[in-house]
Amino acid sequence: MGHVLIPISLLLFNGIVAIAAVESACVEDSSGSFLLQKAAARRAPTVVKNKTEEPQVQPEKGVCVARDDIDKTIPIEDVLKQYPGQDGWCVYGSFGPWARECAVARQKGDVLAFSKVYSPIYSYILTGPNATQKTYRMPSGQPLTTRDHYFPLDDVYCFINGWYDLDRQKLINNYTYLEQVSEAYCQSLEATLPYYHRLSMKSMDVEAGLDEWSFNHLTNLPQSVITGMKVHGAVKCLLGGGKGAVCDLANCARRACLLADGSLGYDARGECPPV
Ligand SMILES: *[C@@H]1O[C@H](CO)[C@@H](O)[C@H](O)[C@H]1NC(C)=O
Ligand SMILES: *[C@@H]1O[C@H](CO)[C@@H](O)[C@H](O)[C@H]1NC(C)=O
Ligand SMILES: *[C@@H]1O[C@H](CO)[C@@H](O)[C@H](O)[C@H]1NC(C)=O
Repeated sequence: MGHVLIPISLLLFNGIVAIAAVESACVEDSSGSFLLQKAAARRAPTVVKNKTEEPQVQPEKGVCVARDDIDKTIPIEDVLKQYPGQDGWCVYGSFGPWARECAVARQKGDVLAFSKVYSPIYSYILTGPNATQKTYRMPSGQPLTTRDHYFPLDDVYCFINGWYDLDRQKLINNYTYLEQVSEAYCQSLEATLPYYHRLSMKSMDVEAGLDEWSFNHLTNLPQSVITGMKVHGAVKCLLGGGKGAVCDLANCARRACLLADGSLGYDARGECPPV
């Protein structure tokens, strides 16, 4: 049986694992503590819990520190001071494939493989009869039509950050460019989020829970969702020493593109130019 592991709000946030085949889906609730996970689990066909798959510390696999050694409530910058010279993505690598797969990509300076990590999940959820269109409206009034009923936040995140407007080919294939875009984005967050330097991993959990609620209950998204996306991005930035959003950018570049009529096309549906 195929084994699809489905996470929470942003796929890039919670720990999903790669997939073998996608015929019938099981869902792994990898930490069990998130509102979003519970919601995703409710929607999903089967839930399999498997705590025995906690990753071992293996820096070359993107896990530099054991999960129990990290307090999620402590600001990320303070945690990372305890591990000088180490990439925060690897320090937090035990938190999920989203972190450790990214740590490996950062070690290599190459996001091509990372950009495909979630492709099987996206294929599963973005194709087929259930991938119907649903339109959300941003606080600005701008509409966003998604087909993702599991991780619509991924689209909101990529969209409001302007990452669907960029050169997707270049983002995935030119790491120098990717880092430049990431650094500029992170600097803008540092300048606009007053509590940027105090953000912890828990900040992202809290944000994710609130955002999921909004998504399940509203189609006109409140400003808090936009702020939540900034918190999410800022946490990713902080993990990479203030410029760490490279993997999220790569995921957006792979996932979808803006079509000529302003709607979203998906790589999984063959609607985007190849990258
Ligand atoms: C949990 O993972 C371990 C190690 O991969 C495996 O041996 C075991 O069968 C898994 N259990 C379940 C319930 O999937
Ligand atoms: C589509 O959604 C229905 C209702 O949630 C579910 O029973 C069915 O398995 C889904 N089909 C696919 C292909 O995911
Ligand atoms: C990669 O991007 C950088 C920065 O935008 C640019 O200077 C460089 O020419 C690009 N390299 C290639 C091979 O396109």
